Amino acid sequence: MLEQIKNTAAFIRQRIGDFEPEVGIILGTGLGGFADKIEAEKVIEYKDIPGFPRSTVQGHAGRMIFGKVEGRRVVAMQGRFHYYEGYAMTQVTLPVRVMAQLGIRCLFVSNASGGINTSFRVGDLMIITDHINLMPNPLIGPNIEELGPRFPDMHNCYDKALIARATAIAEREGIKLQYGVYVGGTGPTFETQAEYRYFKAIGGDAAGMSTVPEVIVARHMSIPVFGVSVITNCGLSDEAGDHEDVQLQGRRAGARMEVLFREMIKEL
Ligand code: HPA
Repeated sequence: MLEQIKNTAAFIRQRIGDFEPEVGIILGTGLGGFADKIEAEKVIEYKDIPGFPRSTVQGHAGRMIFGKVEGRRVVAMQGRFHYYEGYAMTQVTLPVRVMAQLGIRCLFVSNASGGINTSFRVGDLMIITDHINLMPNPLIGPNIEELGPRFPDMHNCYDKALIARATAIAEREGIKLQYGVYVGGTGPTFETQAEYRYFKAIGGDAAGMSTVPEVIVARHMSIPVFGVSVITNCGLSDEAGDHEDVQLQGRRAGARMEVLFREMIKEL
């Protein structure tokens, strides 16, 4: 696995020359619009990257964008790999491992999720304060000591200082924020009503199918993480989840998320 990570990173380094990204960003469903806010210096399609699987989901473009936001060097993943697509967890998390090799010192993640906290509304932004992992753990298997410890600590998984900064920015910019626990399931089914109730009962505020593996791997390498969920549907309402609706709500809330990410990056 380490060889794979290093080979992929070496390939990308050849393409980007001496550009060293400081911030890694993963753009979730419908949130790819942030990519247009990057002054791109280099774009690499996933299909051209050795070791990268192809993103198969509608609404997820598949490319890595290297460029600047507010003068800071970033690498953004427009489209991510999900466990439900059939990839191994090592593949799902390979981009994060590679971004770490390229030098990122901070990871921003975003996703679309279903609200299970009944005070949430469709289109709300939820700052992820913690998560509950209901997928296989991506660190199962031999530990690579060079990357991180066998038993990584998961306190402060979502960096408290970054959350405090987001709160201050949102107040200043007039952006309404919710805060909560993200429950990561495998998907691809949306949850049954009983499952949404179960997620709520165990302490969840939003349900999704991504993010958790990437965050675990980033924390394994001690990279600070900031995560935002766009609430695209309300799980405990009577209406069914729908991928097109998820994409639409993602795009709408995306504009606010873009402001938040941009200002966060500016103040890093
Ligand atoms: N459940 C899981 N994943 C999701 C949902 C949901 O309700 N909405 C958007 N992604």
